Amino acid sequence: MRDVTGPLVLGIETSCDETGVGLVRAGTVVGQALASSVDEHARFGGVVPEVAARAHVEAMPGTVAAALAAAGASPADVDAVAVTAGPGLAGALLVGLAAAKAYALALDVPLFGVNHLAAHVAVDTLEHGPLPEQCVALLVSGGHTSLLRVDDLARGELARLGSTVDDAAGEAFDKVARVLGLPFPGGPPIDAAAVGGDPAYVHFPRGKGSDATFDFSFSGLKTAVARWVEARERAGEPVPVAHVAASFREAVADVLSAKAVVACQDAGVGTLVIGGGVAANARLRTLAEQRCERAGVTLRVPRPSLCTDNGVMVAALGAMQAAAGVTPSPLDLSADPGLPLGGRAA
Ligand code: KG4
Ligand code: ZN
Repeated sequence: MRDVTGPLVLGIETSCDETGVGLVRAGTVVGQALASSVDEHARFGGVVPEVAARAHVEAMPGTVAAALAAAGASPADVDAVAVTAGPGLAGALLVGLAAAKAYALALDVPLFGVNHLAAHVAVDTLEHGPLPEQCVALLVSGGHTSLLRVDDLARGELARLGSTVDDAAGEAFDKVARVLGLPFPGGPPIDAAAVGGDPAYVHFPRGKGSDATFDFSFSGLKTAVARWVEARERAGEPVPVAHVAASFREAVADVLSAKAVVACQDAGVGTLVIGGGVAANARLRTLAEQRCERAGVTLRVPRPSLCTDNGVMVAALGAMQAAAGVTPSPLDLSADPGLPLGGRAA
């Protein structure tokens, strides 16, 4: 094992279609493994909960073994187990919880049930070190889009500044990809298709971009793209996929980064953290970097592989909770599919 000291925390993530297992020690990734059932869902254009849950059952033992092997560790080296307790798909969450409880019980180590959304923020500490006393987080995933003021992540002290009033940003990527005939999940193929496209080719609407709140809306944007593509098809004209992908991506990145910077200024906070699958988006990363630099805000975005669901994000938050003296979870901890931001499962 690598030469770092501190408790070794095993993190298990099964809220959606990725079986993620990670090992973290002293704020460092020491091993991780990931299995995904994404190919089994692709033809449905979205994640099928029962298929995801079964895939987690099959993948769990091998993924835990692979993460331990990558860390050069054995189960007996694990000092604490962290697991996503919510939000997410009920059946999928239950598989991770069952596995985590079994490891915690068998190894006689504490169990920490963690909030998936907070874990998307916590993962940044593995790349950029401890968070400052206060920061603003832009959380952009397949199911959530929110701006938060983060006061104490380990204790779930977060203030919601704004959220999407309809679709999540990732959901918009997934739906627009379908309209453009690109595969699921839509974020990566749209990012790839947009390279070489003109972001100013179509000026798509920036939902809630001009109102004074920190709320977002992506459903009108999704519909605008669909209408635009339909009109082209009806006219028998080819759809310029690269231009549409670039224009759509620009609209999302524009409104997200603009509101995030204003939220920092409004809250008097000097650091912005972006987390969640959509934080892997190349244009969002570039535009946020430019705008933060201009506004004197420090931007922290984890590397793309840490933005999408994984096990080390869960281990990172579990380790933060253990270090902060948070009471471990009971072994009858329940899955909470609707766990709110800042909420802790019981
Ligand atoms: O955080 P995540 O892995 O799972 C949830 O907690 O939802 O986020 C998945 C979402 C999907 O909607 C996917 O299309 C989007 O993140 N995504 C991206 C990119 N990579 C993943 N969206 C835009 N650009 C990307 N490069
Ligand atoms: Zn996620």
